[in-house]
Amino acid sequence: MEEAHHEPSGDVERALEALGKRNLVIVGLMGAGKSAIGKLVAQYLGIPFVDSDHEIERVSRMTIPELFEAYGEPEFRKLEQRVIKRLLRTGPRVLSTGGGAFMNAETRAAICENGLSLWLDADLEILWERVTKRDNRPLLKTANPKKTLEDLMIARYPTYATAHLTVKSRDIRKDAMAHEVIAAVAATLENADHDA
Ligand code: S3P
Repeated sequence: MEEAHHEPSGDVERALEALGKRNLVIVGLMGAGKSAIGKLVAQYLGIPFVDSDHEIERVSRMTIPELFEAYGEPEFRKLEQRVIKRLLRTGPRVLSTGGGAFMNAETRAAICENGLSLWLDADLEILWERVTKRDNRPLLKTANPKKTLEDLMIARYPTYATAHLTVKSRDIRKDAMAHEVIAAVAATLENADHDA
């Protein structure tokens, strides 16, 4: 059974107001919890959740590993870009993206112009523990996947850091993480108020 949760007063309303018709776009590395946390955030905000990888799999009728295998990463990125641009046209909702999506300049520009981007920033050990639970990441099919993950962190974190918001992904309950995300979104309204 779902446990009752207690949202800090007003955060949900303020987060919804801050979003308006935009998508809250969650970016970050594989294993950061983008989908798990994103789903909860959507549930608490009462708006739809969509995962770009699932949407890609739905429209192509292939799995992500199959797409990489059949067409290679560049074609996957083009498909990912088309799907994300389309998803950004309707909102509000929570949109979790695959880890590489925000690294593509055109996809990133579309996300930042049309959505509110939020980086779930996680440490290597957390990511590693989570990605080893499943075997569905083509980029980690290397001789030393932990090193690959670390290299991806080094290469990608400066770009992820350009997202509108950053929330540190920690080993705490998912609902607590979701509340932190909602609070971060709600706080953008305060900043906007001050700027005005
Ligand atoms: C990728 C991350 C994956 C998926 C694909 C490529 C990446 O999504 O899109 O395997 O480049 O980091 P998750 O971040 O949801 O695992």
